[in-house]
Amino acid sequence: YLCDTLSVVVIGASGDLAKKKTYPSLFALFRSSYLPEHVQIVGYARSQKTDKDFRATLRDYLAAKCDDDEVIDAFLKKCFYRSGGYDDETAIEKVAMEMAGMEQVSGHEVANRLFYFAIPPSLFTKVAGALKAAATNHNGWSRFIVEKPFGSDLESFETLHESLSDMLEEKETYRIDHYIGKEAVQNLLVMRFANSIFEPLWNRNHIASVVISFKEDFGTKGRGGYFDKSGIIRDVMQNHLMQVLTMFAMEAPARQSGDYIRNEKVKVLQAIPPIRIEDCITGQYISDDEGIEQAYIDDDGVPDDSKTPTFAALVMYINNPRWDGVPFIMRAGKALNERKSEVRIQFKRAPGSSLLFPDTGNGSTLSRNELVMRLQPNEAVYMKMNIKSPGLAGDPVMSELDLSYKTRFPDKFSDLPDAYTRLMLQVLRGDSSAFVRDDELREAWKIFTPLLHAIDDGKIEPIKYKAFSRGPAEFDEMAERHGYVYSGEAYDWNGTA
Ligand code: BG6
Repeated sequence: YLCDTLSVVVIGASGDLAKKKTYPSLFALFRSSYLPEHVQIVGYARSQKTDKDFRATLRDYLAAKCDDDEVIDAFLKKCFYRSGGYDDETAIEKVAMEMAGMEQVSGHEVANRLFYFAIPPSLFTKVAGALKAAATNHNGWSRFIVEKPFGSDLESFETLHESLSDMLEEKETYRIDHYIGKEAVQNLLVMRFANSIFEPLWNRNHIASVVISFKEDFGTKGRGGYFDKSGIIRDVMQNHLMQVLTMFAMEAPARQSGDYIRNEKVKVLQAIPPIRIEDCITGQYISDDEGIEQAYIDDDGVPDDSKTPTFAALVMYINNPRWDGVPFIMRAGKALNERKSEVRIQFKRAPGSSLLFPDTGNGSTLSRNELVMRLQPNEAVYMKMNIKSPGLAGDPVMSELDLSYKTRFPDKFSDLPDAYTRLMLQVLRGDSSAFVRDDELREAWKIFTPLLHAIDDGKIEPIKYKAFSRGPAEFDEMAERHGYVYSGEAYDWNGTA
């Protein structure tokens, strides 16, 4: 594709997503010479703006990533802005004609077009229809990147999918879930299948539980109006965390490319029964004692009587030979005590160890081994293990084998590509393996829909928790009930927190 001409059309170019993610990622690709020389990036949205005004807005976002004005200028020269309605075929046709003119100047025979939908899904169908009619008839490929939410339950997903698939073929549709593009999520595949030491342990014989956590130390920050319609489960669990779960639990794919990985992910989803109401607790944050974070219901656009969860913890089981009986505990929350996402595998206790290492009453009981994959911030993989307490005493103490990216790869760490950048490059290369296929979504919605309906119907009352706390204490009880053994405050990982 680097030898061809490329036109990128960002629909919804004046929105937050486009400014914060789409353009900075295109810029990152441009800087690293991953965009063809002949590229034009056309922003399209309803509001009237000149190229100059639009470029000035973009500059602020790009300057946050790069202090080289010349590079920014060179990139902005490739950026244009055109306004029009989202279903206005005539306006879109005009843009397409202009684009064709720019494409011709390059003298290349092939011109490819990438359309990025940075718009609410209610507009997807209209936009796809208008684009298909007016902007995809050219010599080269057309690819469409679409953003969540892909429906709000199984039924609405099917409706959206049906109308969109009338216009876009599955192979040209790239549904983005940026969690798949994260460094540490991509590493799951390599960790598991490029080492011989983990696979033999990666099953119900050795693993007691798996906890997948997503914690943010800030509230909805003015996004409450949007968030209130989804809640934490739709916002990050049914999509982002399920992607982590499937990559963690899947069987080895035969190849990394194409549909091999997605086929394996679907099989995991098919083995998970719908989540039961009794296996879920939800919470909603109230203001902290100092009043630094206002209560969720006081955020803009949130009704006073909102029951939307900003925290949820749930338990799933994968009914296949590898995972039968192992609880997968998923927890996600806004306005908690820290920002951290991780996968924590707790192994079964060392068999036959009670006489060998008896509890001497001084805290020397054996702790469970844990393998922790820190997704963010500060990517790391560490293994909690018992070692002899150094020195004259012989009691086992908990320590760790620690791979912190920051210390191990100091040069690369500060410059790891954003998930969106990595994924956008995959689209340009025509590799859809890191994008969400329709059947993955269907299966994921099947698992979550009964629970979501119960929550929507007010059958689960959110437990109030103070902003910046660990969330509802009921989570710890729930995790314990499902076999998770907390090793206590005494253990503190020494890594780059
Ligand atoms: C988005 C959610 O999809 O993911 C946000 O809508 C959430 O609510 C965000 O904050 C988390 O992404 P990241 O990459 O910051 O962990």
